Amino acid sequence: MMKGRSRRDRRIRRAGIVSVGKYMPPTVLTNRDLEEIVDTSDDWIVERTGIRERRVARSGERQSDLALKASREALARAGWDAEDLDMIIVATVTPDYIVPSSANTLAGKLGAIGAASSDTLAACSGFLYAMHQGVTAVESGRADRVLVVGSELMTTITNWGDRSTCVLFGDGAGAILLAPVPEPLGVVDMLLGSDGRYEEVLRMRAGGSAFPASHETVDKGWHYLEMEGPEVFKLAVRSMLQVSSTLLERNRIKPSRLGCFIGHQANLRIIEAVTKRLGLKPTQVYNNIERYGNTTSATIPTCMYGAEMEGKIKKGDWVLLVSFGAGLTWAGILLRWAVGRLPRLEEKAGLPSDTAVDTYPDRLKPGRDRQER
Ligand code: UT7
Repeated sequence: MMKGRSRRDRRIRRAGIVSVGKYMPPTVLTNRDLEEIVDTSDDWIVERTGIRERRVARSGERQSDLALKASREALARAGWDAEDLDMIIVATVTPDYIVPSSANTLAGKLGAIGAASSDTLAACSGFLYAMHQGVTAVESGRADRVLVVGSELMTTITNWGDRSTCVLFGDGAGAILLAPVPEPLGVVDMLLGSDGRYEEVLRMRAGGSAFPASHETVDKGWHYLEMEGPEVFKLAVRSMLQVSSTLLERNRIKPSRLGCFIGHQANLRIIEAVTKRLGLKPTQVYNNIERYGNTTSATIPTCMYGAEMEGKIKKGDWVLLVSFGAGLTWAGILLRWAVGRLPRLEEKAGLPSDTAVDTYPDRLKPGRDRQER
């Protein structure tokens, strides 16, 4: 439940990430597998994007199922109960439904009765927009325990006949818990922005009120993502560089002091262009695009998870999170990592122990019948 504190009771305090969770569906779709679906090649995909494989959720598996598993892991790692949560925010472009929100569904599945819950829609910047909302609630004293999730079933809105987009995306979810932390740890600065003049370069036209679902919209393929890749690429480099430089300069942090840079995982070449211009060493940058592709709002939390689990971020380290996405939207958050190495949880803690299946869901057609593999 959110707190109704009086203005006098509220004072700015530091908010920090106190736990992380992740869930990736176990079924792997490699570039070689994609060669059998569209006219592409492993060489082209690796060279132009850095992606080698991505995960695909099973038929019938919902986005809220992925979010639930990632959230349960974050809660278990922190030793929190779902009933303790004041607020749940889910960033997603692939909600189970438009109404109600994915966060409502997640709250119900978790048993977080009474917690405020809503979705944030800001495409690939969605997770940082949602985190901004959670951090602000904790800083203001309106909330003490906030769950922020980035969760996507991108393979459900991918046109498997369009090689220029279908090789890029994957499914997955990441979750963080926010709570008050002592200074100097926690979130130091945040920056959000957008330029709506670019709405046409990356969009899914149908399914909203402008083009409600109809035979015509389905025939036209308007329920899939459409993208002007090269245009988005240029805008991405420009906006991520601008956000990064602004946050570092206005907080007087030299790039060399960063313990970890995590950028939205859309294309390895975009991240390399940005980090090279910032003067960062490869050891300061954490990526997971090679294994998971672009999981939209899940890229940043799953990278934080990986960096934490692999010991690439330590308590007190400066961390810069930067994203851009459809809209055009962009976002950055500069923080000092607030936790030491989080406990590794055994499967007996009730966490997922799924095994991969060797068949792909029907939605990956056209292409050969995946069930025959
Ligand atoms: O998080 C959402 C934000 N999304 C992004 O940030 C994506 C940003 N854009 C990109 O990452 C890149 O623009 C892409 C990876 C999407 C495309 O790479 P590109 O180097 O910009 O390629 P292109 O679109 O300029 O296409 C170059 C060639 C074309 O062939 P021609 O016309 O030169 O003969 C394409 O038809 O590559 C061809 N092509 C492919 N070939 C093999 C496009 N996609 C493929 C493919 N396999 N999958």
